[in-house]
Amino acid sequence: MKLTLPIPVPEKRMFHKKSEFNIHPITVLQDNIVWVWVHNCNAVVIDPSISSPVKEWLLNKRLSLIAILQTHHHDDHIGGTQELTKRWPDAKVIASKKELKRIPFQTVSVEDNDIFNLLDSKIKVIEVHGHTNNHIAFYISKKNSKYNILFPGDTIFGGGCGRLLEGTPSQMFTSLNKLNSLPENTKIYSAHEYTENNLKWALSLNSNDISIIKRLKIVQSKRKNGLTSLPSTISEERKTNLFLRAKSIEEFTKLRRHKDNWKC
Ligand SMILES: [Fe+2]
Repeated sequence: MKLTLPIPVPEKRMFHKKSEFNIHPITVLQDNIVWVWVHNCNAVVIDPSISSPVKEWLLNKRLSLIAILQTHHHDDHIGGTQELTKRWPDAKVIASKKELKRIPFQTVSVEDNDIFNLLDSKIKVIEVHGHTNNHIAFYISKKNSKYNILFPGDTIFGGGCGRLLEGTPSQMFTSLNKLNSLPENTKIYSAHEYTENNLKWALSLNSNDISIIKRLKIVQSKRKNGLTSLPSTISEERKTNLFLRAKSIEEFTKLRRHKDNWKC
């Protein structure tokens, strides 16, 4: 008698497939990216600038919005929140406790180092002053996952960092160092598509830097094909982001000032 044995699936493959994050970009306004993190039939939205495209996207996929993460109070990050909570009134709005005045519709107030559960993961709050006072980032880890996730808002961008609209260079330098201490395989989902411009600026100061040249080529090809340049990773930023490579507050301050006055 002939026996048919089931083909064994390598344990490693099963393991990874199970634990991957499912995160999608919705590009809105001039260069904002609203990230939607999906698990089963639920979704979490990060910094919704506006509501309509996000609402449409969620309804098309028959997803239920369970939470909105807010990194800071700027209009292009919170503009769509209230409209979305009209459609999904049970969705939690998670924001910094120190921003109750500027994000008054928050329903879960968090502080630096708080850890809470969302979907199937643990989220850690990291306070990152600099772009604004009380700006926060969300760091997500999941058991058995091959990588972690960072939603840094406007603190770190592909090849760059946020402008200092409220904080000092020293605060931003400290914030970037905090993010730089995360594991190198952490994926970074920044809130703006600035990578190409940032890398061109970096090349204007380091014209022979092979890592930056290579990354710019990849980013330009992605952009030509209508794709976002993000997520990047901590490891990629360590190699190509001059702000992360800065060794002192003085060096960081000079770079930030130079970028503020630089035109492509
Ligand atoms: Fe901002």
